[in-house]
Amino acid sequence: MPNWSQAIAKPAEEFPLKPLPILSGEIPDGLRGTLYRNGPGRLERGDQKVGHWFDGDGAILAIHLTEEGATATYRYVQTEGYQKEAEANRYLYPNYGMTVPGPFWKTWGKDVKNVANTSVLALPEKLLALWEGGNPYALNLHNLETKTLDNLDNLNEKQPFSAHPKIDPETGIIYNFGISLGAKVTLNLYKSDRTGKVVQKSDYSLEGLRLIHDFVLAGSYIIFFVPPVRVKLLPAALGFSSLSDAMEWKPELGTEILIFDRDSLSFVTKGKAAPWFQWHYSNGYVDEQGNIIVEFVRYPDFSTNQNLKEIPTGKIKTPAKGTLWEVEIDPKTAKVIRQEQLLDRGSDFPIIPPHQTGQNWRYTYLSVHRENADLSEEILGIIARYDRQLNKLTVANMEENLYASEPIFVPNIPNSEIGWVLTVVYDGNEHRSELRIYDSEELDKPPLCRLGLPNVIPMGFHGTWKAG
Ligand SMILES: [Fe+2]
Repeated sequence: MPNWSQAIAKPAEEFPLKPLPILSGEIPDGLRGTLYRNGPGRLERGDQKVGHWFDGDGAILAIHLTEEGATATYRYVQTEGYQKEAEANRYLYPNYGMTVPGPFWKTWGKDVKNVANTSVLALPEKLLALWEGGNPYALNLHNLETKTLDNLDNLNEKQPFSAHPKIDPETGIIYNFGISLGAKVTLNLYKSDRTGKVVQKSDYSLEGLRLIHDFVLAGSYIIFFVPPVRVKLLPAALGFSSLSDAMEWKPELGTEILIFDRDSLSFVTKGKAAPWFQWHYSNGYVDEQGNIIVEFVRYPDFSTNQNLKEIPTGKIKTPAKGTLWEVEIDPKTAKVIRQEQLLDRGSDFPIIPPHQTGQNWRYTYLSVHRENADLSEEILGIIARYDRQLNKLTVANMEENLYASEPIFVPNIPNSEIGWVLTVVYDGNEHRSELRIYDSEELDKPPLCRLGLPNVIPMGFHGTWKAG
């Protein structure tokens, strides 16, 4: 079995707030606040395994860096479904990649479980655990105690709050979306104030269920690339097939580009592009000619879904390689007028300095494969910085058998593009986890600081930084 599989071989164990030992270096002066990360902590229950990596129950890590040192806690989100399944010691609900066990006349129409496992949004008074199929769960920012399912004052229970909100750096307005199912399929757009309260909504009818995981803010636009994945709804609705297994790659349909106005949240235009698949965007902006520039991680097809489905088994059979691309789009027609692959290295989880959201920027941080990694065996293991100005990739200095989570960039002073890069690392040589802090200008040098974590933290999805 590959080394990374040990990190997810058993359900992760929670721990209460504990001080963290410094393994090397020092916590940089000025780096004060909290790193939050979310991801599936548990991929089995009783003798059952999840059907897909996306099905694992969300567990959140908080690492507080203060003048007194570092403390951390790791907690499962106590969703209603998690508590019921813990009591039953078996899976009771269907999910993205799994059907509910049992005869279909007992399970037909059963709601999927909110796994709250995809990302986090740190608000002034609460932390939200995000998942794209439902309302968020609110947690205590300090000890991660789960408070309640939270409708942000204005969402109905069928309106999900997806896992990739974007914060306008100037106004603090939080933009997000959610796809709701009813008589028709609706793409809901939201604006929230700084507290998270949804203050404006709009809706746009889709022609059927679409797989939309993320979006991009670019100048005055909100943009979605809708990949040519279609869902055979009947088998999924009847519970014969999971949603993931009911999805079909239909390249002949091409990728649809939807453009909305950021202020009014109203639809502007749509266009068709070549078929590709993406989970994540780095960022976007409007250039001097008025065209939209978007950077994202592009896959040639949907095999990435099968690749991620195989992760809980500990063994990958299906390779999938996403690479960093840039496209230029005419906002009047939503047509792609230029497209370019920026890097050949397999990558995903791109992030940028938060103060440059929706604006031109220089550095993209992302997870990449090690050079010469066997993609039919390995997962993304290492972090890197892509300098858009110099077209240069700097890869972190990390030993073999270490697996780094998505990088999180923290500016050294507000609105700086220089600072620190934080990543939670699973050390497969010693079967333990640690936080690493790198100088963003010296990613290829040893980390400035390493902090030991009490338990193994399995590889997860997304996180955020809240300045203290
Ligand atoms: Fe994501």
